[in-house]
Amino acid sequence: MDAYPFSHFPPVYHDQVKTGTIVPLKTEHINFSIFRTDADFDLFYHEHFQLMSLKQWTPLAIARKAAEFLAEPGSKVLDIGSGIGKFCLTGAFFNPEATFFGVEQRHELYHYAKVAKNYTQLENVGFIHANITQINFKEFDHFYFYNAFYENIDQKNAIDDTIETSYSLYTYYTEYLLAALKGVKTGTRLVTYQCLDEVIDINFKLAWSSENTLLRMWIKE
Ligand SMILES: C[S@@+](CC[C@H](N)C(=O)[O-])C[C@H]1O[C@@H](n2cnc3c(N)ncnc32)[C@H](O)[C@@H]1O
Repeated sequence: MDAYPFSHFPPVYHDQVKTGTIVPLKTEHINFSIFRTDADFDLFYHEHFQLMSLKQWTPLAIARKAAEFLAEPGSKVLDIGSGIGKFCLTGAFFNPEATFFGVEQRHELYHYAKVAKNYTQLENVGFIHANITQINFKEFDHFYFYNAFYENIDQKNAIDDTIETSYSLYTYYTEYLLAALKGVKTGTRLVTYQCLDEVIDINFKLAWSSENTLLRMWIKE
């Protein structure tokens, strides 16, 4: 199952260049326009995903700041619950020296993240269709977490109706993440966005926080 009815991504740029339909421009020009504003980025996705952007996908400015903190040269960064790929793609575009991976449980979102990766031609980004419980955290250097499990207790803002609303599922995932983060090496960086304290291992030291505490940066001691 890999085909979904909607993709707003225009025909692949290189195909059009090959057929002589358009005058060649540098690929960077296209990516610069995609990553210019949230509206520019969201426009490439179906309206259904644009409408949930404010509540579900990291704003570009936040993604840039978070990614900059995580993108040590040569490191592998994991977005825990990557959605349509906005954090990973933004991180990869602005930080070519690091590689960004996203794990996403919903196949449709994973599919569109891959479509976007192909369209942007970014090589330092990859997407995995899996539940976070299937991931070996030790394969990654740094992590980004935008409160992915909150959807288990917040039916009102659900992405769709495929996931059970259940407090015990929320607790299970939260405890799972806490245990996984306990096992990562000293110096591991973590950025949390709109996240409650219960998912933070006490061995992570706060390195920076936005004034409203929505965006926080941590380093494992
Ligand atoms: C708030 S969205 C954030 C998306 C992306 N990280 C971003 O910042 O743009 C959280 C995402 O996590 C995914 N998710 C939630 N629980 C998950 C799990 N147990 N395993 C994998 N993905 C999960 C959801 O499907 C959703 O796409």
